Amino acid sequence: MKRIGVLTGGGDAPGLNPAIRGVFYKASALGFEVVGIADGWKGLLEKKLVELTKEKVDEALLKGGTILGSSRTNPYKREGGPESVVANFKELGLDGLIAIGGEDTLGVAGRLVGEYHLPINGVPKTIDFDVPETDFTLGFFTALEVTTDILERLQDTANSHHRALVLEVMGRHAGWLGLFTAVAGGADYVLLPEQKPNVAHMLEQVKSVLDTKGYAVVVVSEGAILDENLLKNRPVDEFGHVQLGGVGESVAQLIQDHLGVETRCVILGHAQRGGKPSILDRILPQLQAIKAVEWLNEGHVGVLAAYREGSIKPIELTKVVGRNRPIPEELIKDFSVFFNGLGL
Ligand code: F6P
Repeated sequence: MKRIGVLTGGGDAPGLNPAIRGVFYKASALGFEVVGIADGWKGLLEKKLVELTKEKVDEALLKGGTILGSSRTNPYKREGGPESVVANFKELGLDGLIAIGGEDTLGVAGRLVGEYHLPINGVPKTIDFDVPETDFTLGFFTALEVTTDILERLQDTANSHHRALVLEVMGRHAGWLGLFTAVAGGADYVLLPEQKPNVAHMLEQVKSVLDTKGYAVVVVSEGAILDENLLKNRPVDEFGHVQLGGVGESVAQLIQDHLGVETRCVILGHAQRGGKPSILDRILPQLQAIKAVEWLNEGHVGVLAAYREGSIKPIELTKVVGRNRPIPEELIKDFSVFFNGLGL
């Protein structure tokens, strides 16, 4: 019997368990034994497995997080790491692997395919929505429901107390979650990592909204760069990412100091990553997983099950290595109409 492994790496996201279920069902139907690799690439470095059964993956379908565990372990940052992964791959008797993750996890997969010819296919995941070559990453739309729900609640409080409220959301160096939350929840302004913040314009717009409406809500992406110093001496992970968070507080302080309005900041943090996957985050990840396994079985390896133009397409994993996907300028410009042009 052939053996296939599945791992989840990077930050957890709703939709990981449905993807694992898709892998399990399709691989089992093709006659593979399916084994879970614990905690992303760490599990392959340490040969740590998680038993998978039909009952387990069925039960996990509606649950957030990942039943395999996750980590930000980068084998390329460990002495002899990639070689250990290759050796353990063989020792575990794996004939293939499905790696579910964001640019980091998929980047490692791409390198292992390119440099060691390991048979790996990928499924894109991240609430940041920033994996290149795909128009869908599992977790994003569920996280967006959460952030938008919170923004709506903040409007009530901002209105009742005649305040300005700032909501800081995740997304790392891509502003998808920030922009879509602001558009879906009717924020008065948004600050994104893709643009140098125009503070004067933001203050002008917030003042005008306060004058007419009596309250204001502003969304800030955690990666918006207000002051480079804010990120000094922060911890950096194995993929070189600095720990973000806190820019919203500075934005709130600016608004309060310049406009004299009572202002509060809510940093949503990891609450936006948990919870059960939305319907979309159950259906598409299962389909992507099914295709990733199908291609692997056909010997078509080294590809990402990307969602493009309405269907799942195989895209070379090597195209993902070292890249991310910022919001296109035109989209920011289109939506800027809701924020008085964003000072573009
Ligand atoms: O990449 C997903 C993400 O949630 C980012 O939006 C955020 O900056 C980061 O992970 C947080 O990472 P951690 O869970 O390691 O604190």
